[in-house]
Amino acid sequence: MTYGMPENFLWGASTSAFQIEGAYNIDGKGLATTDVRHVPEGMADTKIACDHYHHWKEDVDLMAELGLKTYRMGFSWSRIMPDETLVPNEKGLAFYDRLIDYLLEKGIEPLVTLYHFECPQALVDSFGGWKSRKMIDAYVKYAEVCFRHFKGRITKWVTVNEQFIATAAPDLAMEYIEDPHERSKWIYQISYHVSLAEHKAISLLREIDPEALIGPVCSMQVIYPLSSKPEDIRAAAEAEEMQEFYLLDMSVYGEYSPAAYTWLKERNLLPETEAEDKAVLQGSKPDFIGVNYYFSSCAKYEVKPFGFDTSFFWAADDCRIVRNPYMKPTEWMPHGTDAEGLYYGMRKIYNRYRLPMIVTENGIAVSEALGEDGKIHDHYRIDYLREHISQVMRLCEEGYPVFGYCPWSFMDVLSSHQGFAKRYGLVFIDRTDTDAKECRRVKKDSFDWYKKVIASNGSEL
Ligand code: BG6
Repeated sequence: MTYGMPENFLWGASTSAFQIEGAYNIDGKGLATTDVRHVPEGMADTKIACDHYHHWKEDVDLMAELGLKTYRMGFSWSRIMPDETLVPNEKGLAFYDRLIDYLLEKGIEPLVTLYHFECPQALVDSFGGWKSRKMIDAYVKYAEVCFRHFKGRITKWVTVNEQFIATAAPDLAMEYIEDPHERSKWIYQISYHVSLAEHKAISLLREIDPEALIGPVCSMQVIYPLSSKPEDIRAAAEAEEMQEFYLLDMSVYGEYSPAAYTWLKERNLLPETEAEDKAVLQGSKPDFIGVNYYFSSCAKYEVKPFGFDTSFFWAADDCRIVRNPYMKPTEWMPHGTDAEGLYYGMRKIYNRYRLPMIVTENGIAVSEALGEDGKIHDHYRIDYLREHISQVMRLCEEGYPVFGYCPWSFMDVLSSHQGFAKRYGLVFIDRTDTDAKECRRVKKDSFDWYKKVIASNGSEL
């Protein structure tokens, strides 16, 4: 057993493209699905977000001041490849050239997500997006452009962020379908297409840049049985299987587990496949697994009509996801927070896949506004991060290969569903949902704290 964090541990921080960039329609960028989806009145949208497109240099300077070793960021697919012609947009690539080169100049290694919840709307309009197999070719073409263009500069790639959410969240991958069975059928079909695209991209990277590493980022589901009743234990096992493991199994092994296959078959939800798919799915393997984790929950057995009533993302007929009565809800996290869940979840992932892991997202959402002193004293965020980093340390000390930790988020971002009402950042963005102001950057107390953590390689928590 070793003590402390490994040398070269990648202390990082995360963002995604559509949640920070803004500049949604300039320099040749096409509209993304996240640019056109319905945003409730009074909530910020992607048009400006944090205006990172114009503040990128200042943002990288802040990252360097923080001491980041890695920056987990996303590319906007529609900035690089705006439409169905699949012709790359030189100005879009030039923006990322500037950003990546400056990160490297500052000694910060980019870890880049290719697909984080958005794609060009033109692909949806012309052939239905992920509902169609044409999307697999479009994604692979986009990945190829990125791999060739950034070869040698980007050495760690993420294929897809949270396939579970990306394929099932209302209006991220398809239009809303009322009937839960029909909707689920499409979710599993879309997800199957994403798995094919992911494996094709991994194989392609091996050819183009064999030195580079690539892996998926999962939305880790830590689901405890609500009681020790065997039915609740089964409900929790099925929930983890169908909300996390079936997707990781597809990423790593290229097949469903017997449990997932049976679950889908019994509900007539198996996707349509083609004979040559198996070779594609089993022809490559990722190098690592990225883990996004915010909180845990519980599952209880309950026979009910098949529906999405316990989760936006997963319809079931014998399981209900509920709050763990031992966790205290927070303002924006009704399930509360559970640092130990990070430990147990990652332990399970390692036991099943034996791949190196990195925490790619972990954070607490809070409503925040500048105080009278012009600052944000976010002791609650420091507590949350400290508790979770301790669990990462515990994993490292026990010998689990965790090579990095990235809080969500480097700066406040446009939340995936709640605009700027809730915030996760180490850096405050001085704007509200209705007034973008100048998007001034203000370091929170957690920034100064995390800086010390990084400088001491975790010994000053
Ligand atoms: C993850 C996503 O699901 O959770 C992020 O990868 C997202 O993009 C984060 O922002 C927090 O969720 P939300 O809905 O609070 O923004």
